[in-house]
Amino acid sequence: MTLKLGVNIDHVATLRQARRAAYPDPLDAGAIALAAGADYVVVHLRKDQRHINQTDVANLCKLFPKQIHLECSCSDFGQAAALKCKPYSVCIVPELPGEVTTTGGLNFTLAVQKRLSAMIEKLHKKHILVSLFVNPVATDLRMAAKLGADIVELCTAAYSEAKTQKQSQKLVQELALSALLAQELGLEVHAGHGLDYHNVLAVADIGGISCMNIGFAIITRALFTGLPSAVEEMKNLL
Ligand code: PXP
Repeated sequence: MTLKLGVNIDHVATLRQARRAAYPDPLDAGAIALAAGADYVVVHLRKDQRHINQTDVANLCKLFPKQIHLECSCSDFGQAAALKCKPYSVCIVPELPGEVTTTGGLNFTLAVQKRLSAMIEKLHKKHILVSLFVNPVATDLRMAAKLGADIVELCTAAYSEAKTQKQSQKLVQELALSALLAQELGLEVHAGHGLDYHNVLAVADIGGISCMNIGFAIITRALFTGLPSAVEEMKNLL
């Protein structure tokens, strides 16, 4: 199985919003990421639209109908945006007001199960694949399968924050067991959150994961790999 890469470009929009400017445009970032070999472009449409906004999602989906993976919460807002923009796939994530980033997988309370089930059905009617962002625990994987998800994205936040090698090895093992169970349940398996150039390989080596979704590490690395030529270009202009 070839491991695919979804590049999350939220923080291109974070930079744009820092100046309320027209650039950098996430559309350009998406095109560059795909031309460089990314398999998917990932964007998280938050309710507060603090980085990616609904117009970005609509434009990205128009331009790359088979390559946009939209993250949104299980809410009327997320559902309406997904049904309108029709991305290739949607990952439903928990979203807490004021959080800096997604803090973990979905919490499958009875109320959440009911809302997820209805949202999954509506997305499926529009032929949109549905992924659920889950913690790597058996009960949550079984719940994702029961609710009719096509994909689970295993949350790697705890792994990426591990403080010791022993802890990190234990968490990789948990991810590996979860990937195995998810496959047995007929789910496609993705992984993401907090992955970077140092910690990604241990997760990439787990069999059965088909796609890794990575944002912050790639966008921040791009600042430094791109800075020399940006400075050179300006210097040449002067
Ligand atoms: N996967 C999910 C479900 C996420 O919410 C995020 C962050 O938006 C990512 C992956 C990417 O995480 P990071 O930016 O830490 O690579």
